[in-house]
Amino acid sequence: MTPSAAHLASVRTPLLDWYDRNKRDLPWRRTKDPYAIWLSEVMLQQTQVATVIPYWERFLARFPTVLALAAAPLDDVLSGWKGLGYYSRARNLHRAAQEVVSRFGGKLPSTAAELLSLPGFGRYTSGAVASIAFGEQAPLVDGNVARVLSRLFEVEGLPGDREREATLWELATLLVKGERPGDFNQALMEHGATTCRPENPLCLLCPVRTGCVAFRKGRVDELPPAKVRAAPKKLTLALAVWAHADTLLFARRADSGLFGGLWELPAAEVDEDATEAETTLRLTGALGAGVKLEAMLGTVKRQLTHRDLTLRLYRVSGPLRPTRSAAFQELRWCTPSEAATLGMSTAMQRALEAAMTALK
Ligand code: ADE
Repeated sequence: MTPSAAHLASVRTPLLDWYDRNKRDLPWRRTKDPYAIWLSEVMLQQTQVATVIPYWERFLARFPTVLALAAAPLDDVLSGWKGLGYYSRARNLHRAAQEVVSRFGGKLPSTAAELLSLPGFGRYTSGAVASIAFGEQAPLVDGNVARVLSRLFEVEGLPGDREREATLWELATLLVKGERPGDFNQALMEHGATTCRPENPLCLLCPVRTGCVAFRKGRVDELPPAKVRAAPKKLTLALAVWAHADTLLFARRADSGLFGGLWELPAAEVDEDATEAETTLRLTGALGAGVKLEAMLGTVKRQLTHRDLTLRLYRVSGPLRPTRSAAFQELRWCTPSEAATLGMSTAMQRALEAAMTALK
């Protein structure tokens, strides 16, 4: 696709003017610190603005610089991320901070090309940080931008379609050339988040309506076509609630996969219709120590984006209290309040609360 210079200009200038008049007053828009901007972009990738604000402020207070983040233990970083979900973001952030220290002398590199070489930096994050923090004319496309551009330039194809993605990045590259690339990229995202919304877009208030092909052709509701998302998979975990004195047994998961690197009540995957004997076998296998199911304490259900999660809580006991197991990075006997300072998913916190209530 090669849009005319006039078409590009009819989008760029009014959108930037609109942004200047209407942009939300967000805390990361008041800083020039590349690290703080980077952090905001990582948090905003899968989390809504209103949720991100307090997390961003707390995280920065706890880890105020790249150096502070790089020096912190991963557990502290995961604990600062607790509740935000998609914990691989926090692990990558931490690793990237360490690389910024070791490879770039503690200063975030200023070009999208260099940023791309750091853990967790894809095309989006690299473009966002390079343009917003360093003023590089680097493009970015996220879900909002993809929707805005597919409507403005009538880009066909389903989300994920390679040809469509390539076209969108080309358009973003052409559009970002000009003054204030960081503000322009944010204008595109802001426009998608507030006006050019997926449902009920506010076309009558749109600053770039006259340049919008989908609007002219009455195709705004058709573009982009809705993504067909695979149904979430069912996942049932049996959790061992193993009490000893005033402690419970906690385990740290392997770094990869769901809830990687996070702490939990030791969990083993079971079939939805697993018998108690099967559940016993699974938990014994995971802990590498014989367990006996004493009582079923309750069930916690959580809906994740790709998983229908069922957590079954079992009070267990056993002749030997394990302190390590091949299935986990670490086992630790600690009080629930000590455990509250470890990185734990929201699902697991709910399960722990349910277990504590049931044990009372
Ligand atoms: N979404 C992600 N980053 C954003 C930003 N800087 N401005 C508006 N929306 C965003």
